[in-house]
Amino acid sequence: MKLTFTTWMAIMATTLIVVSNGVVQAQLTSNFYNSSCPNVQAIVRSGMRSAVQKEARMAASILRLFFHDCFVQGCDASVLLDDTPTMQGEKNALPNANSLRGFDVVDTLKANVESSCPGVVSCADILALASRDAVVLSGGPTWNVLLGRRDSLTASYSGANANLPAPFDDLNTLIKKFQAQGLSVSDLVTLSGAHTIGQARCVNFRARLYNNDGTGEPDSTLSTTYLQQLQSNCPSNGSDDNLAPLDLQTATQFDNCYFNNLVNQKGLLGSDQELFSSNDSSTTPIVQKYAQSSRGFFANFPTSMISMGNISPLTGTSGQIRTNCHAIN
Ligand code: HEM
Repeated sequence: MKLTFTTWMAIMATTLIVVSNGVVQAQLTSNFYNSSCPNVQAIVRSGMRSAVQKEARMAASILRLFFHDCFVQGCDASVLLDDTPTMQGEKNALPNANSLRGFDVVDTLKANVESSCPGVVSCADILALASRDAVVLSGGPTWNVLLGRRDSLTASYSGANANLPAPFDDLNTLIKKFQAQGLSVSDLVTLSGAHTIGQARCVNFRARLYNNDGTGEPDSTLSTTYLQQLQSNCPSNGSDDNLAPLDLQTATQFDNCYFNNLVNQKGLLGSDQELFSSNDSSTTPIVQKYAQSSRGFFANFPTSMISMGNISPLTGTSGQIRTNCHAIN
């Protein structure tokens, strides 16, 4: 077939091929589905609008799903795969079990997209779009989502346990886990701002309230009033699943209050407060900047989300477009 100049340009626009260090890599592009599924963005947006109207917290749960997907073998929807007799998936790994939510919402989004464009849009891209919509629907900034990811054939239980940061990680460990994914110290602070929405279970912050680092004392970086408030809903034993908002001021509003909380020693998770109170103060000025300026936070959050969304995508003929996000075809 003889390619006309226009056809060639169209191919170049949908699958940018970048050669770096002799490695050929397909890049994600924002117009990937323009001809194959022109309504995908509207379909996902409308499904997310219904889901968030039904339960505001769902925005947070979807955003977290995307993060937990990207940190384990890249943004490839591996987190959505169920366990099989021959594969231990990510859903039951320590950071995810009894914690990740929103799988049913992704199923609805996928079903809606499939009925318009069967076999075309990956679960990984649906999750990327849904996360952006989650932020926007909660009052946060918007951005153009880069697309063209494909879905993995495998998942990694051990990768989920090893790569995902824990709420009791110190700053050095958090920085290392982000750098292992190609993300900077600034990305760490900016993306942690996602904790401006959503909830955490008592089991994930109890130690700070009663026996921080085995000292038998509460975490000294917790404000006294906030400590008392948290203790009343998170006893020293039991009630592991009791919830507290990650941002005590505005739990369903995407804003910069999370950073104000850190400055006021009211971060919920140890990993949150570490960004402001650690002896290694490399993150402190960034927290201060965002606490003072939601504009600065809103300007940087999209860039960091795009960087996170670029972690090792499967492109070209790698992986597949799953029909059902729970299982490979
Ligand atoms: C910096 C390291 C991070 C740590 C240690 C961490 C840890 C956690 C923990 C322990 C929870 C509560 C889970 C539960 O109690 O069941 C949580 C919730 C959440 N995380 Fe993170 N997280 C981190 C970064 C991120 C990032 C980068 C994002 C997204 C860009 C994110 C988005 C969320 C959201 C939105 C929730 C609330 C989910 C809901 O309400 O369903 N987190 N995180």
